[in-house]
Amino acid sequence: MAKNSLFAALVALVCAACVPDSSAPASSSKTQMPDSPALKSLYIQSCYSCHGTGVNGAPRTGNQQDWAPRLATGMDTLLNHTRNGYNAMPPRGMCINCSDDDFRALINFMAHPGNLPNASK
Ligand code: HEC
Repeated sequence: MAKNSLFAALVALVCAACVPDSSAPASSSKTQMPDSPALKSLYIQSCYSCHGTGVNGAPRTGNQQDWAPRLATGMDTLLNHTRNGYNAMPPRGMCINCSDDDFRALINFMAHPGNLPNASK
């Protein structure tokens, strides 16, 4: 099937870039992206620059240790802190056009790993 071979080619392409660095964690927060194209573009334009790598102590995408204590405060608090800013976290995460639903989806995405095949370990 053409679709399968394209997928295999993509996997080979992606893995060619990551295999040499064996010290990299299996599910690096830098490589996790939302499935939805719309959410992915919002994520890349805003949250990713800090949450992808943990700039200034930003909780890293897919890192449960970073997110567990924050999730414990509840989605209302997290949404509130996202809208208004929180310490080094800028108001709205610098996403002017994001709706509350977008923020909820982005927070849920960042707080839970699972978009990578090996992220469930
Ligand atoms: C300029 C860097 C930066 C950007 C861009 C950014 N964040 Fe953050 N974010 C931070 C930092 C730093 C913290 C940790 C703040 C602290 O705990 O002191 C944080 C914390 C958070 C928290 C946890 C707040 C809490 O109550 O513990 C949420 C939720 C969050 N960010 C959501 C987002 C979302 C959604 C986006 C994209 C729309 C985003 N952030 C973009 C830097 C950023």
